[in-house]
Order: sequence, then structure tokens, then C-alpha cells
Amino acid sequence: MTTDGSWWKDAVLYELYVRAFRDADGDGHGDLRGVCERLDYVRDLGVDVLWLLPLSPSPLRDDGYDVSDYYGIHPDYGTLDDLRALLDGAHARGLKVITDLVMNHTSSDHPWFQASRRRQEGKADWYVWSDDPSRYAGTRVIFTDSESSNWSWDAVRGQYYWHRFFHHQPDLNYDNPEVRSTMLDVVRFWLELGVDGFRLDAIPYLFQREGTNCENLPETHAFLKELRAFVEGIEPGAFLLGEVNQWPEDTLPYFGDGFDEMPLLFHFPVMPRLWKALAEGSAAPIRWILERTPAIPPSCQWVVFLRNHDELTLEMVTDAERAFMYACYAPEPVMRLNVGIRRRLAPLCDFDRARVELLHSLLMTLPGTPILYYGDEIGMGDDLTLPDRNGVRTPMQWTDGPGAGFSSAQQTYAPLLTGPSAPANVNVAAAERDQGSLLHWLRRLIAIRKGREALGRGTFTMLPSPDPALAVFLSTSERDAVVSVHNLAGEPRRVTLSVPALAGRDLRLGFGGRLEDGVCLGSVAPAEALPVALGAHGYAWWWPEDDA
Ligand code: BGC
Repeated sequence: MTTDGSWWKDAVLYELYVRAFRDADGDGHGDLRGVCERLDYVRDLGVDVLWLLPLSPSPLRDDGYDVSDYYGIHPDYGTLDDLRALLDGAHARGLKVITDLVMNHTSSDHPWFQASRRRQEGKADWYVWSDDPSRYAGTRVIFTDSESSNWSWDAVRGQYYWHRFFHHQPDLNYDNPEVRSTMLDVVRFWLELGVDGFRLDAIPYLFQREGTNCENLPETHAFLKELRAFVEGIEPGAFLLGEVNQWPEDTLPYFGDGFDEMPLLFHFPVMPRLWKALAEGSAAPIRWILERTPAIPPSCQWVVFLRNHDELTLEMVTDAERAFMYACYAPEPVMRLNVGIRRRLAPLCDFDRARVELLHSLLMTLPGTPILYYGDEIGMGDDLTLPDRNGVRTPMQWTDGPGAGFSSAQQTYAPLLTGPSAPANVNVAAAERDQGSLLHWLRRLIAIRKGREALGRGTFTMLPSPDPALAVFLSTSERDAVVSVHNLAGEPRRVTLSVPALAGRDLRLGFGGRLEDGVCLGSVAPAEALPVALGAHGYAWWWPEDDA
């Protein structure tokens, strides 16, 4: 790792839902003390940063993304002292911890909203109120399955209020300077408590202006710049990851000049194209989106992922692509939600280890910092009988014992999975015992990724490929280079590859899976003639022989 302040370029993140991870006090809900008990597991995965889903008090109608007090911890999760203990435990193990910062909206239970709907002094303008629900008509609805408008009527105030998500999540009014300064105060509170940064939820929607789609407005960028400067003043180099689910050209401005807005942003549109490429057996969708991804300031970084706690979002695809994705991955209506697919990684791959490995091989070699979602490392399934996104948020499966080693309670916040991915069949203890498990494989993958400087912070190129099924990536840095080849087809592929950028160098096949006969790990070949012989969904990574 380097010490240039962008340590997160070499990092791997782990997204962890506290309610689901480990229940230390036996009430059926995961808690912060439970996470503390499992910090060694997380460290041993090889990840560097934990992203904790919202922790604050909330009526939990959107799993904590509906905050009712920004300065506390939900009683199910414990106390601020428990969080301090977790931060100490994590830091002692070299792990950083970021939390969700939900700035755009609060719960309608929040005292601010209760005061605002009663026009109480000082709070009357804290939310976006209107007599006219036809304002901002150019703004899309995000939760299309549950909301038909971004306006809801409030009988107490006798006006409509604006909300981009559920109707119980009114948007704060960022035109009000007190709202802006209060949110900076919230940021200060958590940084002073010791968190290492934030995942900034839903930031494109902070302001509204007539005649626009109310996304990515100049006023939003101005506030985010203020926030970045404020954070730098308290915790220089804090980890700030913006959730901007937009096309690359609209996302780019959130990096600012490289130092004055977001250092890290999710690359949303690349994600569905990895899945589409897999379904089509062709690297074309990956090439398409990477060619449309502009260069970003060298000090900044994309963050890439395969799955997360939400539906697999299909907002950044065309209608035809969405129809194709639904046909391949969500044939039953119960699998769909809003504009997306509410399934976990392993079931999306039909529990096929080869496809799971291939997607991770792509994830770890794409430009950017990768995020893993809890449970995917052991191939957990989902529960489609649960509503909304709850089916991908079920208890972590530690053992095949009672409560899956998650909880000693009779009843847990959500049922344990049943069927083929029940704890009896899929659990951490079994994965630990089996040297060939996905868990062991993933630990190796992470260790290898982290040992290759070119992957985190190198220059990325998607090379031309003699076979459209093969995605060929080249990452180079001053001291390192990695060529990775990914076979998206369900049949073997054999080609000889030339990498002119590394001409004259011998490359060693350092890592791979589903290698065909005749090519084996450790073999060395010139960069002008790399023998690629991959089985269905196979992958191979080479790096210069001289730095083994
Ligand atoms: C979060 C969702 C949440 C929404 C509203 C999203 O971006 O990822 O889980 O429902 O914001 O806060």
C-alpha cells in the first residue's frame, strides 16, 4: 500500500448489514457487539473497509434509510459506546469503518418533520412543501412499485411534501441554510466519534429546480463541495463514497476537480453489463460501457460491485436491455422490484460456482475499488417470499446449528433461509473446513488482487480480443502489470493473445480457473504469444515473470 492519501485505491470493501450479521444479545436482531465478535472473520477475508448500513434510530420502514434521529444508534443495534468499541476493534485490526449518511431525506417520524408539518417556528421550511403537486413534473419516480408521485398530501399542514423515495421519507429542503449547516453538524458528530468516512446516500437529488429533472443540479454540486471541504477540515483523507446512480457523463462532475468533491463514486452502469455479458456469452456489453466511461481525475476512484442490499438496479440500461435482463435473470414477476431484480448473487448464477468465480474475477480486475456484499462470499441464497428487498438481507449463516450461529433467539428479525441454501448446506463453518470452498477461493483472490499494485491504482485498458466472448483487460502501473482474460461463454475458448504494450516481457500465469489442458498455473509465455485455453467461464491472470 502507498501512503499518498489514496490508500483506498488498493482496498477491498465489505458491505455489512448489522441487523443480519450476528446477534450478540439474543434478541433476534444483529447488533454492533455481534459485529465486534466477528471482526476477525472480516479481517481474515482480507478486506480493508467495512461499510455499515444505517445505524441511527428509525421506524425501519426502509431499513434505517428513514432516519428519525441523526445523533444516535438504533436500540436494536446497541449504543454509541458499542459503536466506539467496534471502531476500536476494527482499527486495532487495520480495518476502517464507514457508515451510511442519509442526507436527502428523513423519516416522517423525525421531530423535524413533525415540527415542519405544524409550521413550528424555525422548522417550517425544513422540507419541500407546495400547494401545487404539478411542480417539478420532469422528475422520475424511483420506487415505481410503491409510489406513483414524488408528492404526498399532508393533512396536518394542508400542503403537499416532496419525496424521491417512499412517501414516509420526506426530502429535506437544502435551499434552507439551516438544513445544510445541520447536516454538516451531523457529519462532524460521526467523524469525531471515529468513523473513517461515509457512503453518501442518494446525493443527486438534494435540490429541486423547475424545468429540470431535479437531479445533478449545480446547487447539489456546490453543497457537496462545501461538505468535502468541511470533512477535510476535520478528517483529511476521509473515505467519501457517493451513491450516484447515473450515466458516467452525469456522474463525472461529482468527482469535481479531483480534490473538491467526491473522491469515490460507484460505477453503477457497469454492474448490469457484467451480468448481461455473462448471459449473452459476450464481452461486448462490458466494452460498450467502458468505452463510454470518461477518464476521471487521477486522485479519484470508481467503486464497483456485483450485488448489494438493494435490487440489482436496471435504471442505467435501455428498455431492450432491461427486457433481456428480466428474461434471463428474473423470469418470475416475484423476482422483480421497481426497475430491478431482487435476487442475490449465487441464485442469479444458478448456484454455478464457475459463473460466481468469473464475475468476481471481472470485479477484481475492472478499474476501481471492489465491494463485496455480506453472505455472497459463502454463496448465500435469497428468500423471495419476503417483501421488498428483505429477501437479500436474511441472517448471516455461520453454522448449521440452531439459529445458524447468528442468534440464540427463537425468532429472528427475518427467517433463516430454507431449501438448498439453508444454513444446513451453506454456512461459514463448513466453508472454513473445505479448502476448496468459495470462501477460501475468495480469500485467495482478494490476497492476489491486493498484491498487484496495477489492479488498484494502475492504468486500465480493455484490449481488443480475437474472440468476442473474451474480455481482455490490461492494467499497468510503474512497477506492475496484469493481463486478465475472462471467458464469458459457456463453452471453452482457445486463442493466442498478443499484448504489444508488454512486448519483450515474459508473463507468468499467476492465477486462473477452469484452465484447459496444456496451460497450467505458473507457466511462462512471451507477451506477444500468450496461450489462452479457457473452459466454460474460465479466467486467467498473467503478470510479469520478473516480479513473480
Ligand atoms: C439505498 C436504499 C434506500 C434509498 C432511500 C438508496 O440509495 O441504497 O436502500 O431505500 O436510498 O434512502
